[in-house]
Amino acid sequence: MKSWVLLSVAISLLLNCSDATYLEQQEYVPFDKSKLDLSSFFEQFDYDSLRKSNWKISHSTKSDGSVYEGEWDLNAATVFPGFSNDKGLTAKTPAAYHAISYALDNPFNNTDNDLVLQYEVKAQKGLNCAGAYIKLLDTGSVSPSGDDFSNGTPFQVMFGPDKCGESNKLQFILKRENPITGTMEEKVLTSPPLARSGKLSTLYTLVLRKSQDFEIRINGRVAKAGNLLNDPSLLYPALNPSKEAVDIHDLKPEDWDDTEFIPDPEVTEKPADYDEKYFAHSIVDPNAVKPENWDESEPEFIVDPLSIKPEYWDDEEDGEWEGPMIANPKCAHAGCGKWVPPRIPNPQYKGPWIRPVIPNPNYKGEWSPRTIPNPNYYEDSTPSNLNLIGGIGFELWTMENEIMFDNIYLGHSVSEAELIGNTTFIPKEALERKSLESNRPQAKNEPILPPKDFDDLLSEDSKSWVFIFEFLTAKYAEIEDYYYEFLLNPLETIASNPFKFVLYCVVFVFAFTFVFGILSTVVFLVSGPVNTFENYETKETTPIEKDTDSKSTSTGAKPLLSRSNATKRR
Ligand SMILES: *[C@@H]1O[C@H](CO)[C@@H](O)[C@H](O)[C@H]1NC(C)=O
Repeated sequence: MKSWVLLSVAISLLLNCSDATYLEQQEYVPFDKSKLDLSSFFEQFDYDSLRKSNWKISHSTKSDGSVYEGEWDLNAATVFPGFSNDKGLTAKTPAAYHAISYALDNPFNNTDNDLVLQYEVKAQKGLNCAGAYIKLLDTGSVSPSGDDFSNGTPFQVMFGPDKCGESNKLQFILKRENPITGTMEEKVLTSPPLARSGKLSTLYTLVLRKSQDFEIRINGRVAKAGNLLNDPSLLYPALNPSKEAVDIHDLKPEDWDDTEFIPDPEVTEKPADYDEKYFAHSIVDPNAVKPENWDESEPEFIVDPLSIKPEYWDDEEDGEWEGPMIANPKCAHAGCGKWVPPRIPNPQYKGPWIRPVIPNPNYKGEWSPRTIPNPNYYEDSTPSNLNLIGGIGFELWTMENEIMFDNIYLGHSVSEAELIGNTTFIPKEALERKSLESNRPQAKNEPILPPKDFDDLLSEDSKSWVFIFEFLTAKYAEIEDYYYEFLLNPLETIASNPFKFVLYCVVFVFAFTFVFGILSTVVFLVSGPVNTFENYETKETTPIEKDTDSKSTSTGAKPLLSRSNATKRR
């Protein structure tokens, strides 16, 4: 039986391996750039080497003093690859700042136009703590050599994944000038969608229309959309300052009374009948009426008139005989005895007394400072009109290396971006998914035997019994330790592991019941039925010698009597 299982596991493993080996890799075909408008920028990293491209690595210094030590290279994917020889720009250094930029031949002008920015991220080691966002750099901000590119380089748009631990954002930052202060402010999307952290390629698209509508798409699907002007809380700080501002010179007057309610000066004491009327949980039901035929003169219970004193009763020994009590049949229809009206929940219940309050006659309302026209107000009604864009850059911290970027598009056309996505990303991602599926983790090394059942244990040599014994003694020691700890400090022991406590209680109760169940069975078998009315027996056996048989058939305690008499007769 076992050998069959082993054989079939081995066969299925072999089949799986061959599946993976024969997965064909399709050759990469570059996207035909001539399908795009001349103003569109498209980068598919179809170069022999990074040096032959216009991408310039920067090893400059960050404003906080750290150096961009990260290296970059052009590589085809090695983890769940799509097309073979499909190269992407790859961040190579783990736990490092990376910076690389590309100076556009002609500045990209988005004035009164739509902006579409799209690119792929493939985090081959997953995205745990890394930025993978792209920046659209101000024209003239990067030197042709690109070696001064840093986090201080002015940009117009930042867009893409930014993830570290629990913080996961698909960042979107728009830089807009504050015309009053003359500074550029970063307007950050306040509730961004989540970035993808898997190892397959993800396509991120930002659409900024001249209508000021915007869209963020992930793998072609809209993840967030809205209008930059309609929702003041969309970006932080708000795209436009508010028209009115609080007058900081307006202070709250000393005598401003903003207490809305004050204690009622006329009620200072709890009313004497308050507790009885409003704090009692129940009251006598005011609608309850004593039934007409209720008889208070009759007792509720009477001595059973039909009962007869048993013959064996000895008044001297047993005291005066009293018949058993029964419910008074005269009470059957209504009731008798003292009538007590029923209680009902107090409908007026209010709880404990609290001193009442009245509206404050001097209340002036909430104070708030007056507002004045905001001296810093301005209106940016065309935020999609970016300053000229002169370059594209990645400026990131990454914990994981081997993050790939590919198929970067910057243009004015959503359909161009879709066309690129349809011809590059969609088939590539399908291939990656295939290689993910065929590379699912398989059973490591040896197939694992199914767990032993009890028969296996019995049929095997005594080793398994030793094992069971060791296991049980170890468990016993553990329980013992727990018990000692419990004796020392009961509350803490329970609190530190309440589950264990409950488990041990259950085990104990079970074991206790089990052992005593067996014990009492054994005792029963050895000594015969146990007589639980021992006292009765001794009391009855002494005086009565006569007429044992008739007694044994008359009343209550007969079986005992008959047994005791029987023993006596012996
Ligand atoms: C891309 O593919 C989608 C789905 O097949 C299709 O609806 C869309 O029109 C395509 N877009 C372009 C520009 O090819």
